[in-house]
Order: sequence, then structure tokens, then C-alpha cells
Amino acid sequence: MRKNVVAGNWKMNTTLQEGVKLATEVNEALKNVDAKCDVVICVPFTHLASVNAVIDPAKLGLGAENCADHVKGAYTGEISAPMVASTGATYVILGHSERRQYYGETSETLKEKVNLALANNLTPIFCIGEVLEQRENGSYLEVVKTQIEEALFDLSAEDFSKLILAYEPVWAIGTGKTATDDQAQEMHAFIRGVIAEKYGKEVADNTSILYGGSCKPSNAKALFAKPDVDGGLIGGAALEAESFMGIVTAF
Ligand code: PGA
Repeated sequence: MRKNVVAGNWKMNTTLQEGVKLATEVNEALKNVDAKCDVVICVPFTHLASVNAVIDPAKLGLGAENCADHVKGAYTGEISAPMVASTGATYVILGHSERRQYYGETSETLKEKVNLALANNLTPIFCIGEVLEQRENGSYLEVVKTQIEEALFDLSAEDFSKLILAYEPVWAIGTGKTATDDQAQEMHAFIRGVIAEKYGKEVADNTSILYGGSCKPSNAKALFAKPDVDGGLIGGAALEAESFMGIVTAF
């Protein structure tokens, strides 16, 4: 059966020293709880190796927030999937709406990133989600379906089974405006149906689909109680160990 996962997305926050301190705090806190979910922190590239050195990989997974769409070579400033893997990280967020919006990521480039992540034994946390206008004009289900089809449906069933999906309505990210648990459930069930149509019910039932967008300790319980919501991708509330743990323990 699919796993429950709570993953932090630190975005472009914390210096190296602050990041190591935060990771240490989360790692310590996890020693005292019996977490009912896999817990992951996705941190800036510069922090990966140092954070890896202070966490217990049996309790806390580590991921990057992006990787390049090429394996190596003359791509100044880019960080490849093998580089990420060489730090000890085992996850990578791909297709976050901020990357799509500000850095021009398309389904075509994301396809390459997913392939390279998988080839390097990184678990992609693949993000999808509609903008406010699409929510309001009723096209949101179709938009998300297209994002999944375009970037992921060339994968074999075996490879698709290695992914984690994160539904993040763009209008809910960092805005304090969370999707209601019913809105999240509607979309998550729809996504599972789209996967089932392509890969069959077993693959769909085994895919973890996380919710992201202003998830916090006060709303995590209701969201995670929904049958198709398998955890969260957490931005702002992942920047303090206490609030992050408040979400981890919502399961
Ligand atoms: P937020 O971000 O929790 O700050 O809304 C979530 C995300 O963008 O992954």
C-alpha cells in the first residue's frame, strides 16, 4: 500500500548554518515521536552534503529542490541529478510551480529531469497544480491532467511507480489560503483516476499523492484524513522544527 509522506520544501531560505541547525532540530525531534509517515526535508543544493551528515537516514529523508535536465557538461550554474545523488540525497522536487513560473520549466524539460532523477535513484516529488484563474473558470481538473500526461505518461509503469506526486494549487502556495479538505480530496481522487486509466488500479492505489499549499499544523489533520491525501509538501511551515513536527504528527 502507498506510503504517507510529509516533505518539507525549504525553497530559497536559510543560510548553510541555519539549515544545518534546522535539520538537526528536526532530526532530534523525530527521535521522540513514532512518526506514522515518511519524513523528508528538501533543502538548497548548498546544504545537502552538510545536512546529510547530521541526520539519521532511517528517520529523515533528504532531497533537493530541483535538478538539471542534462547529465553533465557545459551548463554553468546547473546541478545535475548525479551531483545531487552524490551528496546522499534520495529525493528531488521537480516541476514546482515556482520553477515553472519563474524559470520557464516546461513539460519537455521536466520529462528529462524525471528520467535523470530516476536513473540516479532519486525519488521525484513531482508537482502539479492549477492557477487561480483555472480554478475559477472550472478548467482545473483538465489542467492538472494535462500536466501529468505531458511530463509523465511516457514512463513505464515500473518507473511511474517510483514517483511521488504533489498537488499544489498555485493560489494556495504561500498565500495562507489553503484548499479545503474537500477541494483537495476531489483533485486527489481525480488524479488517482487519471493514473488508473493509464497504468491500472494497482499502480494508482500505490502512488502517494501529497497536498501542498499553506498546509500547517492547524489544517493538516483534516487534509490528511481524506482518503486520497497521502501527506503534504510543506513550504513556510517547514522552516521551524516545531511547526513541521506539528504536521508530521498530524498522522
Ligand atoms: P507553502 O508552500 O506551504 O509555503 O504554501 C508549499 C510549496 O510551495 O511547496
